[in-house]
Amino acid sequence: MSENELLYVTKENAEWWRSAVIYQIYPRSFADGNGDGMGDLKGVTDRLESLAELGIDAIWFSPFFKSPQKDAGYDVSDYKDIDPLFGTLHDFDTMLAKATKLGIRIIVDLVPNHSSDQHALFQAALKAPKGSPEREMYMFRDGKGLFGNKEPNNWKSVFGGNAWSRITEPNGKKGQWYLHIFDASQPDFNWDNPKVVEYFDGVLRFWLDRGVAGFRIDVAHGMKKRKGLPDTKKASTEMGGAKAEDQMTIEELEEQNPFWGQPEVHEINKRWRKILDEYDDRVMCGEAWIMPLNRMASWVGPGEYHQTFNFGYMFADWKKEAQRKSINESLEAFGKVGAPSTWVFSNHDVIRHVSRFGMVNGVPQGDGIGPNSEQPDEAVGLRKGRAATAFMLGLPGGAYLYQGEELGLPEHTTLEGKYREDPTWFRTNGERVGRDGCRVPLPWESGSNESNGFSTKTGNGWLPQPGSYKRYARDLQVGQPGSTLELYKSLLKIRKAHDLGAGNFAWAPEFENENSLAYVNKGVLVLANFDGHPITLPAGEILVTTQHDLRVEGELEHDQTVWIKLS
Ligand code: GLC
Repeated sequence: MSENELLYVTKENAEWWRSAVIYQIYPRSFADGNGDGMGDLKGVTDRLESLAELGIDAIWFSPFFKSPQKDAGYDVSDYKDIDPLFGTLHDFDTMLAKATKLGIRIIVDLVPNHSSDQHALFQAALKAPKGSPEREMYMFRDGKGLFGNKEPNNWKSVFGGNAWSRITEPNGKKGQWYLHIFDASQPDFNWDNPKVVEYFDGVLRFWLDRGVAGFRIDVAHGMKKRKGLPDTKKASTEMGGAKAEDQMTIEELEEQNPFWGQPEVHEINKRWRKILDEYDDRVMCGEAWIMPLNRMASWVGPGEYHQTFNFGYMFADWKKEAQRKSINESLEAFGKVGAPSTWVFSNHDVIRHVSRFGMVNGVPQGDGIGPNSEQPDEAVGLRKGRAATAFMLGLPGGAYLYQGEELGLPEHTTLEGKYREDPTWFRTNGERVGRDGCRVPLPWESGSNESNGFSTKTGNGWLPQPGSYKRYARDLQVGQPGSTLELYKSLLKIRKAHDLGAGNFAWAPEFENENSLAYVNKGVLVLANFDGHPITLPAGEILVTTQHDLRVEGELEHDQTVWIKLS
């Protein structure tokens, strides 16, 4: 057992994840430690103290494995090594050791639905003949039509275009097709093949033995495909199988999505849970876009995932009824299976929540905001975003934060096409601008150079920041009363001090009026005012508020949240 592993064996807190605050690092954009304009592991190690100060319990890293970076690392060519862009396994160990000393656990991203087309297994499949064991590792099929020149079915790629690409056989002739639910550079594995299952057992053990606290599982609802790969009436490109506004029945959803949420995925969930359970206190959080939430909850609970991202809550509006409804649904759905709910507003795939809340009309997942789109109102969005986060962090369960939200960073909404890297942009000819706007490098020291201290390199980091990031840089916010950074620090500190993550939630209508929503958790009243007139506050000690001059006014204005210790 390694030294790191020993430190993790804390039996008295084996279920730490139930109440943890987990901070997502997008390695390309957190901090650049070697001056090449790309974030890396050394950059993270150098800046870990800032995360300890923020008060998080764990970090989830988006992929840093070997990868041609066609989908920013979600196209893995070696699951057991670090891409030179981000450093080496030694850099990983150094980062892990320092994080462990600071009391921060490390979760890594596992990408099991597909690999990169540069993965040795896929390269071997291309060289091997049709029907060979090598081809059986992926989803190869003959094409339709006399010459096999039509896709095997009508499935669409989430990133746009169809979900099949045709290969050239070793003899130089056009040949079979392979399935890729995402980019053509991301072939789907064949999870009906026990060799694939065994292969991933080894990947899990590799990282668990190295001392990671667990995994965020990418596309956890993918992997298994319906037998016979049937055509659908209407091919969907949505991660959740449909847009919320489509109002589909469960039967329609299932018909339309033969590659999402198949019952056989539970076998994989159970197998992995058993592996994790050999290691005391590890966690597995699934990116399982299975809606509605009561279906998602069947992925969680004894013997399966510890957690899934609550995408229902992520897209709940900042409106009284929407918040109440989503929180009720979440607590009910996950409560039924004995699991904590998670709470999350932002990640590397969606528009940053301060910018979403600044839009008059919502924007669907994956579409992003570009220079020609309607632009968010920055001030309105920031105010609502802060109020929403303060409302969320008082809830019991696990919370996920996305790097930069503690600075109140907006989305880069005017990024020019020439900088874009998201495959969605290329596969839709720019019709969907994609997710680059939430992946922009973080500003650390305002005005220190063009990337505001993200990198020592002259000029931009791998993506340019918008001009506004100079105002949001971390150094300007440290120690500044009312800054978003200090707000987040206070919220996390008080959440921990009162153990709200493991708390007992109850709505508190006696403190509400028609514009406000209130709940009590462990004697702490969390009260949000959504719109309209200021509301007078009940008696008690103000623990933290988004309206930092509240003490003077004694009233809570619209789009503000306060935590009060009831007397
Ligand atoms: C997940 C990731 C996303 C990636 C996709 C394909 O949704 O979060 O970033 O593009 O999977 O791996």
